Amino acid sequence: MKVLVTGGAGFIGSALIKLWLREDPRVSVVNLDKLTYAGDLRRLESLKNNPRHQFIQGDICSAEVVEKAMEGCTHVVHLAAETHVDRSLLDGKAFFDTNLYGTYQLLDAACRKRVKRLVFVSTDEVYGSRERGFFKEGDALNPSSPYSVSKAAGDLLTRSYVHTHGLDAVVTRGANTFGSHQYPEKVIPLFVSRALSDQPLPLYGDGGQVRNWIHVEDHCRGILRVFEKGKKGEAYNISSPHYLKNLDLTRRILKILGKSESLIQKVKDRAGHDRRYALNSDKLQKLGWKTRSSFDQALEETVRWYQNNESWWRAITDRSEHFKNYYEKAYAGKQ
Ligand code: NAD
Ligand code: TYD
Repeated sequence: MKVLVTGGAGFIGSALIKLWLREDPRVSVVNLDKLTYAGDLRRLESLKNNPRHQFIQGDICSAEVVEKAMEGCTHVVHLAAETHVDRSLLDGKAFFDTNLYGTYQLLDAACRKRVKRLVFVSTDEVYGSRERGFFKEGDALNPSSPYSVSKAAGDLLTRSYVHTHGLDAVVTRGANTFGSHQYPEKVIPLFVSRALSDQPLPLYGDGGQVRNWIHVEDHCRGILRVFEKGKKGEAYNISSPHYLKNLDLTRRILKILGKSESLIQKVKDRAGHDRRYALNSDKLQKLGWKTRSSFDQALEETVRWYQNNESWWRAITDRSEHFKNYYEKAYAGKQ
């Protein structure tokens, strides 16, 4: 089985490839990634000499690049995306280019090449926010940020290809994911890295927003389960039992690091900030999947990974002009 994985130099894609190659000797991977600011080959160091992993730097928006990368591939798992909500508020263009047009290029090529199955990795954010209860897969999509709208567009487009072209595609909608090697713009690595530098943690609004947190390995196992057992044309939620308000998450991080809560700095809220994400993953559990990790242990291990690998994230937070410019621009008006 030769699988084209897009976005495999990213946080989740790299974890998925490493897990898959480790656990399934029948699989080889072609990894197509543009290496945007979020892509990082350091995540793939352990695969350097692995003959079952081939890396191609390229843009999924290019029909030629996609056509070439898909040559000889029997399956596709599509993770490549622009992924950060705050960036989509500053400039949405790349989100619609990659998340919608790039997805279209992949779907189209997958039909032409008659791939056996394509997985579109979507997000819980496509449902939008709800105060109470849990979203199920049949619920209407009601995304509310440019990021989540661009993902919902890819999600719907994927299912339209099942309907109109008979493509065998499935969709996963995963919750907020955490673990090692995550780009330090997302809240957990951002707050851990700033706390380790004794810099204030910019908590948006009242910190009462709720997110469902899933460890990256559990998320990847969910994607693989849907790849193997999901029903053509169906979507599957991937969530965990762990819901936390941002303020409580921040306090836990500080406690693990032995840092003072005085580092918490409440700042102006994110525009249109979704209050609560919550989803039911019974449908995936019926395929035999469940979360394996204990949240407390996984969070502690994650925080310790950043503590023990300072050079990894400092190469970004302290030495990347791109990161510094982004941080200044995104947080300037929030103080
Ligand atoms: P990430 O930002 O860490 O990685 C994205 C990767 O896509 C990067 O390596 C980047 O270089 C690559 N990429 C971007 N544009 C590209 C293009 N035009 N062509 C080729 N490659 C391109 O993201 P992540 O957190 O690993 O997320 C992976 C997928 O999972 C995304 O589709 C995201 O929407 C989805 N998701 C993420 C989360 C989360 O909490 N991180 C939760 C649910 C779903
Ligand atoms: P984030 O990691 O950006 O993921 P998402 O927006 O996809 O849920 O943010 C997680 C939560 O943390 C979200 O409610 C916004 C909040 N947050 C802050 O309070 N401060 C920050 O600096 C960031 C990046 C996020």
